Amino acid sequence: MNLVSDIQSVDYDGLIPNNVGLGGDVRVKRALERWHPGYINWWQDMGPEGFQESLVYLRTAVSVDPKGWAKFDYVQMPKYRWGILLAPQVKDRKIPFGAHRGEDAWQEVPGEYRAMLRRLIVIQGDTEPASVEQQRHLGKTAPSLYDMRNLFQVNVEEGRHLWAMVYLLQKYFGTDGREEAEALLQRRSGDADTPRMLGAFNEKTPDWLSFFMFTYFTDRDGKMQLEALAQSGFDPLSRTCRFMLTEEAHHMFVGETGVTRVIQRTCEAMKEAGIDNPFEKEAVRKLGVIDLPTLQKKANLHFSLTLDLFGNEISTNAANAFHAGLKGRYREERLDDDHKLQSGTYPVLRLVDGQIRNEDTPALSALNMRLRDDYVADCNVGVGRWNKVIREFGIPFEIKLPHVAFHRHIGEFSDVHADVDGNILGDAEWEKRQGDYLPSADDKAFIESLMQAQYEPGQFASWIAPPKVGIDNKPGDFEYVKIA
Ligand SMILES: [Fe+2]
Ligand SMILES: [Fe+2]
Repeated sequence: MNLVSDIQSVDYDGLIPNNVGLGGDVRVKRALERWHPGYINWWQDMGPEGFQESLVYLRTAVSVDPKGWAKFDYVQMPKYRWGILLAPQVKDRKIPFGAHRGEDAWQEVPGEYRAMLRRLIVIQGDTEPASVEQQRHLGKTAPSLYDMRNLFQVNVEEGRHLWAMVYLLQKYFGTDGREEAEALLQRRSGDADTPRMLGAFNEKTPDWLSFFMFTYFTDRDGKMQLEALAQSGFDPLSRTCRFMLTEEAHHMFVGETGVTRVIQRTCEAMKEAGIDNPFEKEAVRKLGVIDLPTLQKKANLHFSLTLDLFGNEISTNAANAFHAGLKGRYREERLDDDHKLQSGTYPVLRLVDGQIRNEDTPALSALNMRLRDDYVADCNVGVGRWNKVIREFGIPFEIKLPHVAFHRHIGEFSDVHADVDGNILGDAEWEKRQGDYLPSADDKAFIESLMQAQYEPGQFASWIAPPKVGIDNKPGDFEYVKIA
């Protein structure tokens, strides 16, 4: 990559660490300093409940150099240094797709697309504090200090992602940007009057299995959206998303390894007890571990809720954002076509006369579908690794992602019920069988019964195996959180 300068160093002297030259940008600096107290109030009110005084072993970004951008230390979360960090500017970067393909990337907001761009930034920004709100009670039931630390790491970084989007709003959007930045602190996940903007971010994250599934499936939607926005012709958005993706990788690591450790512990306990049949639910549960069919149901729930975040399969908004050069495709640079999608089709799964069918659709209209397909492929990689663990224990069970028509509230399949294999079900049949596919009240109560905190360094709750390695190579009994 051809960089304008060396990696810009991060200024840590002021209130807001940054590598965007905030010191020389008085207007934006003041705007952010005015926004800061409201952010801290929001964090105190809606951030991790009960642990604001505790010392947490967290990484903080101190550079955007991919080879070493973070430093680890104990910090009280409200004192975390939330900063504004953009990936380095690429010299002579061109707009990689859409009607303006090949023109110089925009360093200022293109006037004709201002409203569309602001909307994209606000929607992305809204998801960041939402997940912190959803996860705020989990510290109290952490299965270990290691896991608690990972939760808090994800939380502070989602907070930083909010800063990243607020910076763009404050710097490039004037008065309406400021209003949007305020509104991002006012909405609340699950609130009846002022909910967060997207459905999955108003659901509860009531237990740790939900948290791991959320970070596996829903943070991965975040990854896909950030990948698409990292392609943006609006260069500051591209740069900010590129750095966010560096952090996002850890969130999905937490999810993938979290679920792996749950599976590992379940399989170990089954083997020790001589249980080979994964469907002996009660016998498995008596061992204090989560039976694999219940784990499958949790995956079904979180996967289907997350698919809704991709929006309608066929979308004029997505077409417009692509045409305008604001939001591209996953790994646009690796795709071999005109990058304008003036012609060409893409197969879209549609509901036609009550049947699910693939239909070739103009590629420009099918961008949400395409991103969702890329997402599903990405999800399946980790699912394969989960199944490898189960196979190694010789237990006859395979986790499968449900059909994309299953349990949907947005898009082609929102008006019908389908089972996990994509068979359309009548209302009565769905009522009868949904408990086979989604966690029942009984499943939820069982999982909740396991959620007993384990705060001894190096100790883990009954239902989850220890990690293979510690964070920052710390030993197994490292005190990741000093609870105050
Ligand atoms: Fe995020
Ligand atoms: Fe995330």
